[in-house]
Amino acid sequence: MPWYFMERQPEAARKEYPGASTPMAGTSDAIMGSMPEFNASKRYILITGAGGFIGQELTIALLSAAPDIELVLADVFKPPLPLSKNNTTNTETDTSRVHCIEADLTRPPIVATLLNSKKWHACYLLHGIMSSGSETNLEFGLAVNIDSHRLILDFLRRHQPGVIVVFPSSLAVYGPPEGTEVVSERTIALPQSSYGAEKLVIETLVNDYSRRGLIDGRVVRLPTVIVRPGRPSAAASSFASSIVREPLRGEKSLLPVSRSLEMWVCSPETVVRNLVAVKDVPKDRFGRNKGRVVNLPGQTVKVGEILEALEEVGGKEAVGLVEEKVDPRVEDIVASWPSRFDVSVAKGLGMVEDVSLTEVLYWACQKSDDCWPKMMHGMLKTTIILDRSTRYTSMPSKPPKQNPLLLNPPIYLCLLILLLFRDVWSGHRVQSILNIASRISDSFTP
Ligand SMILES: NC(=O)c1ccc[n+]([C@@H]2O[C@H](COP(=O)([O-])OP(=O)(O)OC[C@H]3O[C@@H](n4cnc5c(N)ncnc54)[C@H](O)[C@@H]3O)[C@@H](O)[C@H]2O)c1
Repeated sequence: MPWYFMERQPEAARKEYPGASTPMAGTSDAIMGSMPEFNASKRYILITGAGGFIGQELTIALLSAAPDIELVLADVFKPPLPLSKNNTTNTETDTSRVHCIEADLTRPPIVATLLNSKKWHACYLLHGIMSSGSETNLEFGLAVNIDSHRLILDFLRRHQPGVIVVFPSSLAVYGPPEGTEVVSERTIALPQSSYGAEKLVIETLVNDYSRRGLIDGRVVRLPTVIVRPGRPSAAASSFASSIVREPLRGEKSLLPVSRSLEMWVCSPETVVRNLVAVKDVPKDRFGRNKGRVVNLPGQTVKVGEILEALEEVGGKEAVGLVEEKVDPRVEDIVASWPSRFDVSVAKGLGMVEDVSLTEVLYWACQKSDDCWPKMMHGMLKTTIILDRSTRYTSMPSKPPKQNPLLLNPPIYLCLLILLLFRDVWSGHRVQSILNIASRISDSFTP
């Protein structure tokens, strides 16, 4: 039994590592959930850590990519069906192609049962403990980020040789850049965190097993993905999403690094499009003796530029909700990651580039139910939230600014009533409301 089952109660562990799920004490070695019946016309794809942020997005994208794909989602808890929420079409069809399994992948019998259950077309190994989580607890990070991955890779190489394995690594494998150094796949990786070191160990194994022809691995080093929905994660870079997500919900947020800090970031849509595409790259395109590592496209931004984009989408009020208080521990970790990348290898393999930062934020706002600029501007949910299943086949464009008074029937009705009663009660307050309304309306006139 792994040490953390004996020493740590799951609830306490969950509190200690917010956002990172922990294996649960007392679970049996059986996998929980039903596996799909075998159908020779289907391509079975496994996503581990599928209850997490990227796993949920990837599920939607893979379902949209091809009708013959059947997905098995595995996580320490039964992963939710991403299409059961905010989806307008194809719910039944799509969810029937998704099978959710509760499985702690640090347990060898569970790994064997899960992997043995299908002949996999591809396996996405997304489960893991993020940067702050694995820095705080070395044993925990080693167990999940190394031991469980080795278990899976060894099982696959022995029982399903040649299977496609996609491993999301991170820019955290690199050490601090030299000034404005541009890093590439050829830059020596000297990680400055346990998370980065653990990722590098698995990268090396995936490379070596692929060199031997035991598996067909693809290692993609992801930029920091923003804007992440939900609660803050155990990643040191979590603030890069919080300083957008919380203010756009009208909530306060803390910025623990200086505005001048540069980061390498990317939207979830672009990262997920590239994760889908990378499994289809013919293996000989990676080049003999060059390994399977690819730095995915992203963009270099100063943290201050994220705040400028926030102002464009949410106004001064949104930026006013961000409190700046440098936490040297967080700043040190994030500053140790490079922020300028040469992505020519990725582009050569057909990976797509990211959209502008403002578009990334507009897109995050469109996806969120409680994004207040969207509500203020009277954007109707049905017209603005794009069908989640088509999100990965059509990229977003910045929505035009809209006059809230014209689009919002309740405000329009109130103004009409005020107008009607202006003659009856021509007090100062009514006149001021009408003046303000007219100023808002003018500001939206092109
Ligand atoms: N989000 C980013 O910005 C980013 C950047 C670089 C790399 N990555 C990598 O991409 C992958 C997915 O990232 P994410 O943001 O979705 O992370 P996440 O924390 O949202 O999801 C990780 C999932 O792994 C699961 N997990 C942990 N231990 C497990 C175990 N023993 N068995 C089964 N499942 C387990 C967790 O429950 C969680 O749902 C990770 O490997 C991460 O290192 C992410």
